[in-house]
Amino acid sequence: MENIVSASVLGCDLARLGAEADRAAKAGAKWLHFDVMDGLFVNNISLGIPLLSSVRKHTDMFVDTHLMICDPIRYIDAFADAGSDNITFHVEAAKDAAAVIEKIHSRGIAAGISVKPGTPVAEIKPYIGLVDLVLVMTVEPGFGGQGFIKDTLQKIKQCRALIDDSGRNIRLEVDGGINAETALRCRQAGADTFVSGTYLFNSEDISAAVKNIIG
Ligand code: DX5
Ligand code: ZN
Repeated sequence: MENIVSASVLGCDLARLGAEADRAAKAGAKWLHFDVMDGLFVNNISLGIPLLSSVRKHTDMFVDTHLMICDPIRYIDAFADAGSDNITFHVEAAKDAAAVIEKIHSRGIAAGISVKPGTPVAEIKPYIGLVDLVLVMTVEPGFGGQGFIKDTLQKIKQCRALIDDSGRNIRLEVDGGINAETALRCRQAGADTFVSGTYLFNSEDISAAVKNIIG
C-alpha cells in the first residue's frame, strides 16, 4: 500500500487554514487530518464542525477526521455532513463500536478505529473485519507537539500482523510525534499512513518533510 502523509491541521497556522491545506497538498500530503476534541475524552478542546465545513469547500484533499470524543455515534452524521472522507473514533470512547462503524459506513465514507497508547490491541480485534483503517496513537491524545512514545512500536507491529491475517485492505495509521526519524521506525513496524502536525508545518522545506516521512 502506498505510504501517505495526513497533515494535521492542529499543527498549522489556523488563521490561514485554507492556505496551509494548499501548502501541505502541494508538498505531497494526500490527506488532511482534522482533530476533534470534546474536553471530556481528552483534556483539550480543538476543532469543530463549522471549521471542517469551511475547509471542505476549499480543498479536494481527503479529509481524515479523528474524533477524540465520548460516545462518538452522536456526531457521525454531523462530521459526515461537514465533508469527512474518513471518520476515526476511539474504541475506548464507544459504547458499541460495531454500531459506530456501521453508522459511518451508512454515510458512504471510510471508518477507522483507534487505540490510545495504553489500550491493548485485543480491544480492536473484534472489529478488524469491519474497519478501513486502524489508528495507533503514538502519544496520549489531546495535544500536538508531544514526543513519540517508543513502546507503541510494539503495538504497531501487533496491528500489522492483525491486518495481514485479516487479508483485508486496511490502512495502518500512526499519530503523534511523527518526524523523519520516528516515521522510519513506524514504517519498519508496518505503518503506512502518517499523521504529522508540528514537524510537517514547521519544517523549512515542507516537501522534503513529506518525503522524509513516507521514505
Ligand atoms: C493529538 C492529535 C494529533 C496531533 C499530532 O491528540 O491526535 O493529530 O495533532 O501532532 P504532532 O504531529 O504535533 O504530534
Ligand atoms: Zn489526530
